[in-house]
Amino acid sequence: MQSLVLATGNAGKQRELAALLQGRGLQLLRQTELGVTSVEETGTTFEANALLKARHAAAATGLPALADDSGLEVDALGGAPGVYSARYAGEHAGDAANTALLLQRLQGVEFAARTARFRCVIVLVRDANDAAPLIASGCWEGHIALAPAGDGGFGYDPVFVPQGGALTISQLDEVAKNQASHRGQALQSLLARWPGSLR
Ligand code: IMP
Repeated sequence: MQSLVLATGNAGKQRELAALLQGRGLQLLRQTELGVTSVEETGTTFEANALLKARHAAAATGLPALADDSGLEVDALGGAPGVYSARYAGEHAGDAANTALLLQRLQGVEFAARTARFRCVIVLVRDANDAAPLIASGCWEGHIALAPAGDGGFGYDPVFVPQGGALTISQLDEVAKNQASHRGQALQSLLARWPGSLR
């Protein structure tokens, strides 16, 4: 069985990635279990930050690493919070404060104009210096709700209504989210090109 480090400290993402990779003969190790601390996300694109995280985890563990960087783009806010989604309301503000700030900035904007999308870039590196990392992306279109609803998921899930539905992600079950989500799409695309060996 091949070992792979999941280079994320975010418990919600760890859960989703582990569910999506189940049954693939991989031993998934969470970087937090291996004592790997988070790297500073200094990139200005999802791809740059995903690469930073994957190389950092691979360097710290000597194992292949899978990292994602993701975020929410809201059209009425010029694409914000984007790569700053995790720290929109401040470095250690947390999901509830980020969501509250988002709703505050969208006050007075009608539902039809609250178009938004989640983006995700996933990177697989075989080692820290991998010159040909595998990179895939996914995108999930929808709207920002007028108020939070539901209590599943993490991050902006309580205020994101996927295209064609009426419920927020927090009101969907995890299986439904994983099939449709930006992270699910990116991972499916990466899995289609998954190398026979990670060595
Ligand atoms: P990252 O760890 O720098 O990639 O931060 C991504 C941030 O984007 C998270 O902390 C969330 O705020 C937001 N985000 C990304 N994916 C999702 C999702 O599937 N649901 C809700 N929020 C998400």
